[in-house]
Amino acid sequence: MSDTIIAIDGPSGSGKGTISRRVAARLGWRLLDSGALYRLVALGGAARGLDPSDESGHAQVATTLDARFEVNERGGERVLLDGADVTRELRAETTGNMASVVAAMPAVRAALLGRQRAYAEAAGLVADGRDMGTVVFPDAGLKVFLTASADERARRRYNQLKEKGLPANLAGLSQEILERDRRDSARSVAPLRPAADAVVIDSTGCTIEEVVAQVLSLARLRFPVNP
Ligand code: C5P
Repeated sequence: MSDTIIAIDGPSGSGKGTISRRVAARLGWRLLDSGALYRLVALGGAARGLDPSDESGHAQVATTLDARFEVNERGGERVLLDGADVTRELRAETTGNMASVVAAMPAVRAALLGRQRAYAEAAGLVADGRDMGTVVFPDAGLKVFLTASADERARRRYNQLKEKGLPANLAGLSQEILERDRRDSARSVAPLRPAADAVVIDSTGCTIEEVVAQVLSLARLRFPVNP
């Protein structure tokens, strides 16, 4: 099934989430938001009172993760963890930062590997993350590495959080994005980097639809699809 996988990797705020969602919808393919799994492990660990540095505790949370991804009445996302609605907390910047700490733990990454690969059992998957093309789906038929300048990524993140009614501060976000990039790129397991065969797209100054169109035209070249 790996030939019908599009892996979209890149740093925080590069637009991967929105672009992956739109590409999946246009192709009628499934979506794997792998960042949400790391965010859920961080929230699950906090709910159990785990120390942020407790690797085996977080790996246990990852192994037994009871997560459900649903669509709400307005067509947006609703995410349940152990049956409780965590949609709002999931997208908070503090949760993203906690996720990047647990994501550096090899046992947590190993525990989530099978769950992520299971998404590819049926044909047609858009996988969004940091290591989709390098580790989780190394045989993906199309690999895209999406970047944008750090300033633009901080601005996009700011607008996204404001739209969701979540607290945001532009200067603080710039700092946090740089710190998260550093942690995600420097870790020993599955560091953030483009796969050797990835197409790098710099989306600075591009609209979302321009980038979606680029990914769809690459998909048309690689797969027998008619988006
Ligand atoms: O993409 P998102 O901001 O939701 O990801 C949250 C954090 O989860 C990232 O900063 C990164 O540390 C981690 N992550 C990862 N590998 C992935 C997806 C996310 O390490 N495939």
